[in-house]
Amino acid sequence: MARRKIIAGNWKMNMTPSQALALVEELKPLVVNPDVDVVYCVPAIDIVPVVNAVKGTNVEVGAENMYIEDKGAYTGEISAPMLVDAGVKYVIIGHSERRDYFKEDDAFLNAKVKKAIAAGLTPILCCGESLEQRETGVTMDWIRLQIKSDLAGVSADDVKNLVIAYEPIWAIGTGKTATADQAQEVCKGIRDLIAEIYDEATADAVRIQYGGSMNAGNAAELLAKPDIDGGLIGGASLKADFGKVVNAGK
Ligand code: 13P
Repeated sequence: MARRKIIAGNWKMNMTPSQALALVEELKPLVVNPDVDVVYCVPAIDIVPVVNAVKGTNVEVGAENMYIEDKGAYTGEISAPMLVDAGVKYVIIGHSERRDYFKEDDAFLNAKVKKAIAAGLTPILCCGESLEQRETGVTMDWIRLQIKSDLAGVSADDVKNLVIAYEPIWAIGTGKTATADQAQEVCKGIRDLIAEIYDEATADAVRIQYGGSMNAGNAAELLAKPDIDGGLIGGASLKADFGKVVNAGK
C-alpha cells in the first residue's frame, strides 16, 4: 500500500503571531506539492492567525501540545475540543522536549493520545532514544516500551490514522542527523512492532516520520527509505528551506 508522505514543521517556541504570518506568506508558494500532506505545528498563540492564513492552501495546522481534559479549572492548558474548534487537525504528543523538561510520562501521553483521537485530532506521537541508550544498544527496546505504553488501549483502526515520529534525541537541534540507514532501521522496527501488536494492515497504514536535524540537504535520502513516510522538522521549518524539504521527494 502506498502511504502518503507527511511533512510537518514543529515551530517549537518560535514565532510571535506577526512573525508567524510573515513566515506563512513567505512559505506559501514554496510548499505546494499535491503528493504530500504539509502541516505546520505552531505555538498555541499562533494557531488562530495561522489557521486563517493557510485557508485555501494545501497546508493543515497542528498544535504542539494539549491537555487531557475537555474543559475546567486547569489554568494555562488548552483542550482537544478547543483545538478542533479552532481548525486544528494534528497534535504533537510526547515530544522529547515535553517528556524531558515537563516530565510527561507514558501514562499521561497515553491519555493524551486517546483524548486527541476521541476529539477527532490526528496525534503525531513522538518517540526516540538518548545518545546513551543508542551507545549501550537499547534503542529498540526503549522505543518499543514507549510505543507500547503510549498506544495501550488504542484500536487498530485508530492506529491506522496515526502518525508516529521517530526522533533520536541526540539528533534534535544538534545538526547531527541519523544516517538514512539508522533512521530506516528504527522506523522499520516501529512498523514491525505495530504488526506485532495489531496486524499487517495496520502496520502498512500507519505513517512513520523521521525527525532530527532534517533539512533541505538530507531530506531526499531519508524520504527515499521504504519505512520513512515523512519528516518532523524543527529548525529548518522556520525558513524557506522548508519548501525544499516538502519537495524533496520529487
Ligand atoms: P530539529 O529539526 O531542529 O533538529 O528538530 C527536530 C524536532 O525536534 C522536531 O520535532
